[in-house]
Amino acid sequence: MDFKLSEEHLMIQQAARDFAQTELLPGVIERDEKQQFPAEQIKKMGELGFMGMMVSPEYGGSGLDTVSYVLAMEEISKIDASASVVMSVNNSLVCWGLEKFGNEEQKLKYLPRLASGEIIGAFCLSEPEAGSDATSQRTTALDKGDHYLVNGTKNWITNGGTADVFLVIAQTYPEKGHHGINALIMEKGMPGFEVGPKENKLGIRGSDTHSLMFTDVKVPKENRIGEDGFGFKFAMKTLSGGRIGIASQALGIASGAYELAKKYSKERKAFGTEICNHQAIAFKLADMYTEIEAARLLIMKAARDKDNGDNYDLSSAVAKVYASKVAMDVTVEAVQIHGGYGFVKEYHVERLMRDAKITQIYEGTSEIQKIVISRSILRD
Ligand code: CAA
Ligand code: FAD
Repeated sequence: MDFKLSEEHLMIQQAARDFAQTELLPGVIERDEKQQFPAEQIKKMGELGFMGMMVSPEYGGSGLDTVSYVLAMEEISKIDASASVVMSVNNSLVCWGLEKFGNEEQKLKYLPRLASGEIIGAFCLSEPEAGSDATSQRTTALDKGDHYLVNGTKNWITNGGTADVFLVIAQTYPEKGHHGINALIMEKGMPGFEVGPKENKLGIRGSDTHSLMFTDVKVPKENRIGEDGFGFKFAMKTLSGGRIGIASQALGIASGAYELAKKYSKERKAFGTEICNHQAIAFKLADMYTEIEAARLLIMKAARDKDNGDNYDLSSAVAKVYASKVAMDVTVEAVQIHGGYGFVKEYHVERLMRDAKITQIYEGTSEIQKIVISRSILRD
């Protein structure tokens, strides 16, 4: 087993690190405070190939593997988890879902613009009454011959106010349960498509989270992804890869907080010595380092499973549930190591602690990951 990264992987990691330092770090505190979407930064990320990392070059993407993607996600998330969730949704839910399951016309129509960052995508599964219980879709997409008539509400949609393309999950045949669900491509501006107010959030405040309301939206039949009734499987298969992205986001948040805490502990003095010389602080750093290393290995395992064509439903759930717990544990300790300074904005760790929490909630809560894991290991 080779744990070393290739030259190409190291270059991608370095490029993402440099971009995060030069383009994301300045202004990250202000964007968080003002809930300001990183529009300019996302454009630049598109130009550098970070918005369609795994999309094939024939559709305008970077044609890279999942390992490259998780390395870049970690680096971007160390500095700005709001930018990284935009990147994650666009790459692993929207672009990947379209490239894997869309038809040629759909891929040619949307992927080049999504991969270049010219437009952004959103993935719309959650509803007011169907979050974890995702098969209970209330949004309907009635079959009207040449089009679907869509009615309902989606909520918590990342990129909801900024996206142009929306992959929407909706129920066509309620009597068939989850086998009657479809995945449809919607575009901003379709008559009857309305964007609700922006959510005021605890963390990832620079990202753009909205409800979407659909009233008699006519969606052409050619916008359906896959076979009739494939929508729920589409969502589940796509989310398995998405969870690797969110695990990497959690890892980046944790490693960013750890690096800040380590640096601070070597500078701050108390009782006549740098605080890292107090064993209580040194042991916190040891625990943080160990947990981060373990999370990184689990994420690499899931990414390699995906790249090798192996099943990654289990490894992605394991990586996400563990990395998101590490993000919470490590960021709380990073604030502790900073003492009072950790509680104010300038030192970044309070933001990382707030950003960490969402990684245990979206793309399947930790409880849902444990359902996926336990079903898988008990089935085996
Ligand atoms: N791949 C393919 N099919 C899958 C699958 C997978 N990974 N997981 C489940 N399925 C299939 C099952 O095989 C089943 O189909 P069949 O009946 O034909 O066998 C069907 O899906 C339903 O599965 P279950 O019977 O297991 O359904 P359930 O209701 O008991 O549980 C669940 C399903 C795993 C809990 C699922 O509802 C789930 O993942 N919930 C969480 C939803 C979620 O992750 N939302 C994230 C929204 S996106 C987001 O959050 C983005 C963001 O923040 C940035
Ligand atoms: P619920 O499902 O109501 O869960 C409430 C609690 O009950 C949780 O702790 C949950 O784990 C627990 N629970 C539920 N069922 C079980 C069970 N069977 N066993 C044990 N415990 C259980 N969704 C999208 O579709 N697209 C997006 O882009 C998107 N972005 C998001 C961005 C943000 C900032 C947020 C907050 C959410 C986003 N979501 C998005 C929605 C997110 O995926 C859901 O919030 C999440 O899946 C949980 O659903 P819920 O909020 O309805 O909680």
